[in-house]
Formats: sequence, structure tokens, C-alpha cells
Amino acid sequence: MTMATYKQIESLMGTGPPAGAKQMQVMRWASKNPPKDPNASFSGKNVLITGSNTGIGLQAAIKFAALDAAKVILAVRSPAKGEEAKQKIIAATKRESAAVIVMQLDMSSFESVKTFAVQIQAQVDRLDVAVLNAGIAPPKYATEKTGWESALQVNVLSTALLAILLVPMLKDTAAKAGRPSQLTITGSFACQYVQPDELKLSPGEKLLEKMTSPEHFNVEKSYGQIKLLTQYVMKGLVDDYSYDVNGQVDVAIDVACPGYCSTDLGRDFPWYIALPTKLMHLYCARTAEEGSRSLVSGTLLGNAGHGKFWTNDVFTDPGIMVTSDEGKKLQRQAWKEISDICKQKMG
Ligand SMILES: NC(=O)c1ccc[n+]([C@@H]2O[C@H](COP(=O)([O-])OP(=O)(O)OC[C@H]3O[C@@H](n4cnc5c(N)ncnc54)[C@H](OP(=O)(O)O)[C@@H]3O)[C@@H](O)[C@H]2O)c1
Repeated sequence: MTMATYKQIESLMGTGPPAGAKQMQVMRWASKNPPKDPNASFSGKNVLITGSNTGIGLQAAIKFAALDAAKVILAVRSPAKGEEAKQKIIAATKRESAAVIVMQLDMSSFESVKTFAVQIQAQVDRLDVAVLNAGIAPPKYATEKTGWESALQVNVLSTALLAILLVPMLKDTAAKAGRPSQLTITGSFACQYVQPDELKLSPGEKLLEKMTSPEHFNVEKSYGQIKLLTQYVMKGLVDDYSYDVNGQVDVAIDVACPGYCSTDLGRDFPWYIALPTKLMHLYCARTAEEGSRSLVSGTLLGNAGHGKFWTNDVFTDPGIMVTSDEGKKLQRQAWKEISDICKQKMG
């Protein structure tokens, strides 16, 4: 690492929550101690961010535009909402219209992901940073047209396929720039609390088939499990799609968690979940703007963040289901299943 890079990473780092703090104490601490607001320049860099019409993604897009990114590409399910977001970004940053590009992407569909990955190459000639942020937290069991449970489809399978399809463009840009491109996936601290017994498999059983079954869905546990799979996808991408070139990776890949934030994520919650969620927001949530700082800083870590989990301005233990032998074994199985599905969709 060069001295300049080392200084930049140092400037992003914080203390993290007090050692030994329990989950609720960490959340309360996090709401009182928002991440540092990164001020590095993205000049000359093209930045893609999915799920950027609202919430944490929109706030991150505003920051990338304010930090002078050459182009900020908003990958959004609804072009109309994307245009609205673009106007908000322009109003907040005074950037010219051409600096913000709206592109349609529906992560519930493999076909939409594939189409998007082709179309982005016609829109921009380089991709320096990709933030795969779009995600849902469904309060009840539902499936997409693909047949997979909704969050498994949007947050995991489509995210993995998009990452794989973007890698060539990221590598090409890295080769031109002589420094790593960046792929950051939005994760959650919820992955830290998944317990081994939640995902025990019988001999021969497939993890994704278990997780997509209606009997497995659990409103309290499924989101953490989905975000555990985000960690598994990141590790799989690191192992299979990132290479060392002259002592630095060509594509640096990490997971960044914004912390608990007040956003639209619970928009479909029934009142009996929405009400306690509102109270929790009052007690211990960050704003979407505060949370988005971790996404932006997560894209500035390069080699130093490669393969790591970034939250609260520190590299964080993602939990036993990532670090234990059992977790590592499950990661290998999960990634094989996920990458097999992606390869099959890529034809
Ligand atoms: N809020 C938190 O406390 C928290 C904590 C940790 C991690 N996260 C993660 O942060 C990310 C952003 O969440 P948020 O809190 O900002 O929630 P949000 O306000 O609901 O934003 C979610 C974004 O994802 C998009 N999206 C959902 N389904 C999509 C699909 N099928 N195709 C394309 N885009 C889709 C949404 O688009 P539409 O508006 O069109 O639906 C929206 O832009 C998620 O990955 C979430 O899991 C959130």
C-alpha cells in the first residue's frame, strides 16, 4: 500500500462500538456515532449504484455526485422514480444533467439483469465503482416469477449475477487506470446473529432450496440469513473473479453495512411490525444520509478492504456463520449453488 493510500484509509477509520457491547447497545451507539462523511474525490470515475431512487442508495448517489464522480449511474426498477431521484441529485449538488444517468434494472428478473449488463456498456466506456445496494426485507413469504423466494432472488441471486456480469468492465477499467476498480455490496450487521441451527442441512439437501421453501421463511430470521448469503457471495466473488496484478487486486470487493437506518425498507410491513419498527427508529436509527456514508467509504478501501466487512468505520467480524469451519463449509456450498445458477442463466 502506498503512503497516500494508507493515509486515505486511516482517514476513513473510526473506533467502532465499545468492545463487548450487545446488539441493542451497538445500535444505540451507532445512532449516536454516525460514520465519518468521506470527502475523497471521485473525479474521473464512473460510479454505478443499484436501488438508488430512495433510501441509502439515493443518499450515496448524492454523495458520489457531490464528490465529483464523472458519471453517476442510477440503476432503478422504475425509470420514473429514477428521473425524480436524478432531479433531487442535481438540485442537491448543482451537477450538470449529463453527470447523472438513469437506467432501468429490475432485480426480480434474471433477464433484466442480463439486459442491463449489456446496456451499461453502451452508456459508459468505463466502470470504476459498482455499488450493489438494491434490496428488500419482505415481511411475508412471496416468490418472484423466477420461482425463487423474493429476497433470495433480489438480494442474492440477481446481485450475484449482476456482479459477475460487471466484472469484465470493472477489470477493463482497472487495467486502463492502473489501480483496482471497486465492487461493494450492501450488507447488514444482521448476518452476525445467524445461528448454525437455522441453516442445518440434511445430507444431500441444497441450501437455496431449503431457503426458498415457504416452511423455512421466518420474518424474524430470514433477513439475517439473506444478508449472510451476501457475505457468502462476496467471498465467492473474491475467490473466483478477482486477481492479483502486480501486488494489488484488479477488482477490490467488499461488503459495507450502513447500520440500522430509517428508510423505506419496511414499506410493506403490516402495522404490528411497522409500529415497533417506528419506535426502534426513534431509539436507535441513523438517517439514510448517515448510513450512506459507509457505502461511500466502503468503495474507497481498495486492497485494504478486499474480502472484508466494513461497518461503523471499522473492519468487523461478520459472525460465526462466516468465520467458523461450519460457516466456511456452508459458504462453499452456497457459492457453488449460486454460481451454478448464475452460469446457467448466462448460457
Ligand atoms: N435500512 C436499514 O436499516 C438497512 C440496514 C442494513 C442494510 N440495509 C440494506 O441497504 C440496502 C438499501 O436499503 P434501504 O434501507 O435504503 O431501503 P429502501 O429505502 O427500501 O431502498 C431499497 C432500494 O432497492 C430497490 N429495489 C428493491 N427491489 C428492487 C428490484 N426488484 N429491482 C431493482 N431495485 C429494487 C428499491 O427500489 P423501489 O423504490 O423501486 O422499490 C430501492 O431503491 C438494502 O440492501 C438493505 O438490505 C438497510
